[in-house]
Amino acid sequence: MKYLVLADWHYDHWKKADRDPFADVEREISELDLLILAGDISNKPRVRWKNAFAEISRLLPPDRIHVLPGNHDYYQHVFDGDERLSEIAAAAGVRYANMADIRIGDTRLLCATLWTDFEIGPGRMINEEHIPRRMNDYKLIRVASHGYRKLRPRDVIQRHLSHRTWLDTQLARPFPGSTNVVTHHAPHPDVLLDYSEDLEAAYASDLSGIIARHAPEAWLFGHSHDACSLTVGPTLLKNVSLGYPDDVADPAGRIRSLIRETETVSDTV
Ligand SMILES: [Fe+2]
Ligand SMILES: [Fe+2]
Repeated sequence: MKYLVLADWHYDHWKKADRDPFADVEREISELDLLILAGDISNKPRVRWKNAFAEISRLLPPDRIHVLPGNHDYYQHVFDGDERLSEIAAAAGVRYANMADIRIGDTRLLCATLWTDFEIGPGRMINEEHIPRRMNDYKLIRVASHGYRKLRPRDVIQRHLSHRTWLDTQLARPFPGSTNVVTHHAPHPDVLLDYSEDLEAAYASDLSGIIARHAPEAWLFGHSHDACSLTVGPTLLKNVSLGYPDDVADPAGRIRSLIRETETVSDTV
């Protein structure tokens, strides 16, 4: 069975550039058994998710598509707005997969946005002070339950800890097949190739402990837009970002390279 985990579509940017990243891989997309859009589908999701889903659903039935939000999917939206995102997905026939266990063949895919713990680089105190001044997340995301104030690092850290705990619990459950983790944010600082140290904590956390404890086969993530893969112990850490149109000369090649296959589980013994 074939599946694709693709992060950082940034539909709005490709639309503005008048380019379609799927133009030369339509057949390959149509043959997928499963597509997971792993965050940063588009800014302004209450308007644009619907259009993005309509576009991709021309290639693949929407019930084979799962979506989890990235940071951009909360822009011009609210941090406590997952219910609305889930409704938009459901209206398009797409499955919402934030903190979800998806099965395909002999493989389970544990999906969550993840966010970050603000610990790496210069440390949490400095990161909490510095990062909100540099990252749009803290200008463009509001928290509805707190009077629509701007997002703060503490909100992100709290969400990260809840996703991290969920992943840790799920990973501890015995599973006979292959286990992959799918997150928007990165699970290890070594996958960040070209970031200044003072911004690294906005992109990754150091989840070496969880990786060592459970040794999933692969951890697929986006957000950093660096086509990087490396191994930590037996675990493959692989960036699956598409990225902004100006940075991707051959989107079809990039997408094709990310299609994965899994064994079909037979009903017969
Ligand atoms: Fe992105
Ligand atoms: Fe992102």
